[in-house]
Amino acid sequence: MTATSLPGAPPTAEWDTLPALQQPDWRHHPAYDRVREKLADAPPLVLPEELRELRAGLAAVARGEARLLQVGDCAESFYESTAEHTARRIAALDTLADRLADRVGQDVIRVGRLGGQYAKPRTNPTEVVDGITLPSFRGHLVNSEVASVQARWHNPRRLLWGYQFSGEVQRALRARRLESVSGPWSSHDALVIDYDGALVRTDPTTGARYLGSTHFPWVGLRTGDPAGAHVALLAAVVNPVAAKLGPATTPADALALCAALDPDREPGRLTLIARVGADAVAAALPPLVRAVRDAGHPVVWLSDPMHGNTLRTETGRKTRHLDTIVAEAATFLAVLAACGVPAGGLHLETSPDPVTECVGGAIRSDRSEQELATRYTSLCDPRLNTDQAAELVDRVFVTSKE
Ligand code: PEP
Ligand code: CO
Repeated sequence: MTATSLPGAPPTAEWDTLPALQQPDWRHHPAYDRVREKLADAPPLVLPEELRELRAGLAAVARGEARLLQVGDCAESFYESTAEHTARRIAALDTLADRLADRVGQDVIRVGRLGGQYAKPRTNPTEVVDGITLPSFRGHLVNSEVASVQARWHNPRRLLWGYQFSGEVQRALRARRLESVSGPWSSHDALVIDYDGALVRTDPTTGARYLGSTHFPWVGLRTGDPAGAHVALLAAVVNPVAAKLGPATTPADALALCAALDPDREPGRLTLIARVGADAVAAALPPLVRAVRDAGHPVVWLSDPMHGNTLRTETGRKTRHLDTIVAEAATFLAVLAACGVPAGGLHLETSPDPVTECVGGAIRSDRSEQELATRYTSLCDPRLNTDQAAELVDRVFVTSKE
């Protein structure tokens, strides 16, 4: 754990005084202060009126009048922020959202893990590659995926590169929203406080603070402490925000997140993303949904059926089985229906490329080792390809009103 303020420096914001897990180790890098100054002066990447529009859309989801689909890479690559690749990612999101809209007979709000999903929380600070212990890859915002000690050093200049690449992707998203009323929005895990915290801006019209780095930030499972810096950062801004809930999350934990992130009980403000695992969901989810419902928080409920269902093959490669992912998402819908609460939709890790990272569907599990190796390009967790994601939507939303 690294404190977020320099020793002796005055705190600049409330989150700077709180413990921040999962932060890069780069305070003593010669470029650190200069990078921070540049980011503090940079124009915001998203606009307050965009945030108001997205919040209105999410309020409709919270009321059960629309759905939400949030999809994209586990870890976005700086190298894939080209116009061509971004266009393919937006097209894949649209195709999947159209399919979901067809099945449920409602509008679908489209959100990409896109335009800033460049940082990863890690369980282990190091990993062993070919017998050599290296610092873990933490996403292109922090270090390189290349397996060498130098490439894994935490480099704060990456914050400026991330800002530039994010800007390119945000321009493509904005162009698509001008073409289509149901155009896509950006989202990412607001993990690196030196990045997202430096891009907090004030709306000149309302005086409210907003996160200028993305439309819809979330806090992940490892950084979701209601008393920590990440939750304080999201509590301080008016963006729509989300938080992940895991198998160990208690009703009291969920209510503490609601109190911090949705004190005024506003529909569209807070999304809770359940990623509890297919085995645990039937028992773990109902007490969480009931507690939040009974406390009067009109949150959007989303199922992330990916992160609680990760397996390792014999060679140590991470994968997930489509059947297990379908099982968690289907149970999620059944639990929400039984609690009388609208089910917002799905949060998925997907690729527009024909990747072979998850098994199931056209990728048979009995041939997993060979098939997985043929096109496994994820920088982090295994993603569904577009055929697998389409099959998931068809199998989970079986009838038009589910
Ligand atoms: C993720 O969404 O890629 C992730 C790391 O999720 P979680 O925080 O739920 O583990
Ligand atoms: Co992931």
